[in-house]
Amino acid sequence: MKLNIALLAGDGIGPEVIDQAVKVSDKIAEKFGHDISWTPALTGAAAIDAVGEPYPDSTHAICEAADAVLFGAIGHPRFDNDPSAKVRPEQGLLKMRQKLGLFANVRPTFTFPSLIDKSPLKRERIEGTDLVFLRELTSGVYFGERGRKDDGNIAFDTMTYTREEIQRLAKKGFELAMTRSKRLCCVDKANVLESSRLWRETVQAMEKEYPEVTVSYEFVDAVAMRLVQWPSDYDVLITENLFGDILTDEASVISGSMGLMPSASVGTDNKLYEPIHGSYPQAAGKDIANPLATVLSAAMMFEDFGLTAEAKAIRDVVNKSLAEGVVTEDLADGAKAYKTSEVGDWLAGNI
Ligand code: IPM
Ligand code: MN
Repeated sequence: MKLNIALLAGDGIGPEVIDQAVKVSDKIAEKFGHDISWTPALTGAAAIDAVGEPYPDSTHAICEAADAVLFGAIGHPRFDNDPSAKVRPEQGLLKMRQKLGLFANVRPTFTFPSLIDKSPLKRERIEGTDLVFLRELTSGVYFGERGRKDDGNIAFDTMTYTREEIQRLAKKGFELAMTRSKRLCCVDKANVLESSRLWRETVQAMEKEYPEVTVSYEFVDAVAMRLVQWPSDYDVLITENLFGDILTDEASVISGSMGLMPSASVGTDNKLYEPIHGSYPQAAGKDIANPLATVLSAAMMFEDFGLTAEAKAIRDVVNKSLAEGVVTEDLADGAKAYKTSEVGDWLAGNI
C-alpha cells in the first residue's frame, strides 16, 4: 500500500517520540512491502515561533492532503503561566481538530501482562481491563461561547451540543460496541446539565437501532470512581469533550504509565493518531521519554488502513520490549533505563 502521512512532531518530547514511531513504521513498511512517504509540518509552539500561529494554513493543507496524520505533542511552559498570552500552542491543537473535523477521539485503555504490577492500582482490580473511550472532540465547552463580563470580573464558558453532534459520536460508539462485547456506557451529568439530558435522550432514541447492544447511563462523577474501582466492568464509553479529557487521563493510570496509551481522532474525511500524553517539557531533548504511546498510535493507524498483521506486529514487539525490560526510565523501576532512541532502535530491530 502507498501511504502519504503528515508528520506533526510538535513541541517538547514530540519530535523524539515521533522519530521512534517513524523508525518502527518504516521497518513495518519494509517487511510488509508498503511505501510510506512522510511529510513533516509545523505545529504548536514551534509553529508560533516560525510563523506566528500554532496551526498554519500550510500545515492544514498538508494534513488534508495526507492519508493520515501522525502527531506528537503540543504545549510549552512559557505559555502556561501567562494568562495574557494572545496565542497558545493548544489553540493549534483545537483548531486542527475542528478544521479536520476530527469529532471522535478513540482512547483505549488496556493492561500489559508484564506491567500489571507497575500500576498504582491493585492487580485484582485491573486485570482484564480492556475499555475504549470515545470522547467527543470538536464541540462542548471547548468550543462553546466564552468570554468575560463586568469589567473582566465574570468569566463564562458554555457547554453546547447539537443532537446531530451527539448522534454521530454515539453512532461510532454503538458500532464499536458491536465489534466488541456489546456494552456501551453513556457518561453524562444528566441530573444537572441540560446538554447531558440531550445526550441521554439522543442515545436512548438510538438504542432500538442496535438491539444487541446493552446501554447503561452513568453520571460522570460515579464513573470517575468506578473506573479505578472496577475498570474491567467497562467496554465502550461515550462522553462529551471535557468529561472525556478528564476521564481518559484517569484511565491511563490503569495501564501503569501515561507514556503507554495511544489514541486516534477520526471524522468523516481525516484521521489523526497521537499519544494521549502531553509535551512533557521537563524531558524535552533528553532522550528519556517513553515512545511507546506514539509507536502504538502508529499501530492504530495501520489497523485503520486494514493492515491488521502490521498493527499486530507492532503490538507484539512492544509487548516483547516490555517483557524483556527494554524500557525508558518511567518503567525501569531501578533496573537499566534505555534511552528513547534505544527503545526505538530495539523495536525496529526486532520486527
Ligand atoms: C488532550 C489534551 C488537550 C485537550 C489539551 C492539550 C488542549 O489534554 O488531548 O487530552 O484538553 O484536549
Ligand atoms: Mn487531556
